[in-house]
Amino acid sequence: MQYENILVETNGKVGLIRLNRPKALNALNDQLMDELGDAMLKFDADENIGCIVITGSEKAFAAGADIGAMANYTYMDAFKGDYITRNWEQIRHVRKPVIAAVAGYALGGGCELAMMCDFIIAADSAKFGQPEIKLGTMPGAGGTQRLPRAVSKSKAMDMCLTARMMDAAEAERAGLVSRIVPADKLLDEALAAAATIAAMSLPVVMMVKESINRAYESTLAEGVQYERRMFHSTFATEDQKEGMKAFVDKRLPIFRNL
Ligand code: HXC
Repeated sequence: MQYENILVETNGKVGLIRLNRPKALNALNDQLMDELGDAMLKFDADENIGCIVITGSEKAFAAGADIGAMANYTYMDAFKGDYITRNWEQIRHVRKPVIAAVAGYALGGGCELAMMCDFIIAADSAKFGQPEIKLGTMPGAGGTQRLPRAVSKSKAMDMCLTARMMDAAEAERAGLVSRIVPADKLLDEALAAAATIAAMSLPVVMMVKESINRAYESTLAEGVQYERRMFHSTFATEDQKEGMKAFVDKRLPIFRNL
């Protein structure tokens, strides 16, 4: 697939995807989302990649779904075409960790895309919001579901109903983002975090991601049982033997993803 709306590169064992529709503040149209899904699945299948970073520009991670493209949609267009989420689901099939590095606006579908990632590193310039209500519509790619889980029901209601934006400091206080960095350090910080993850044992990384995601999809008792089984599974890996032996030998481990 030829990419026209994203830029894709590798940085050691990290796959980096930049959303790249600068004139439209990275508004997410169908073509961009097809390209993003394709690039992510390719990185997921590439055994030289251990972690993926998605970022936008200094001004915008993404200002939402493309309003012009959907302005004239009828209900039947949206329903029959399974509009929006059809090609947004790919990210959920990615088993390697995905970090969103967010500077500037992450609005509507842009905020939802960031929340689909495993964690968000924000520049101090980041602004998050679900302003769809101002357009006479509502979040359609998980915003009403992931936002309350991330920031509480009260803040999610406030943001989705008033359309107000949250700055980076509030987003960190509320738990939406894992860290804030100065805007000019954003990519370095995200790539360094991704490189740290990519140096771990990939199968164990995937078990951790799956287990944490279970926290959202099951009861506490089921989640704890799932985690226990995953924990037991790590003892079937060679990397666990290597990791613990390296600690005992007082040296760094060499993980072989086995
Ligand atoms: C299409 C967009 C866009 C969008 C910005 N642009 N956001 N085009 N879809 N979501 C375009 C503008 O039309 C403009 O194009 C250019 O990008 C620059 O935007 P400006 O508005 O001139 O910039 P600025 O004044 O700095 O304001 C920035 C902004 C504002 C606050 C982010 O652009 C804005 O409010 N955008 C819409 C945000 C939004 O409502 N998002 C939710 C979308 S609905 P021209 O050609 O004029 O230069 C949604 C539904 C999701 O996401 C449902 C499921 C996925």
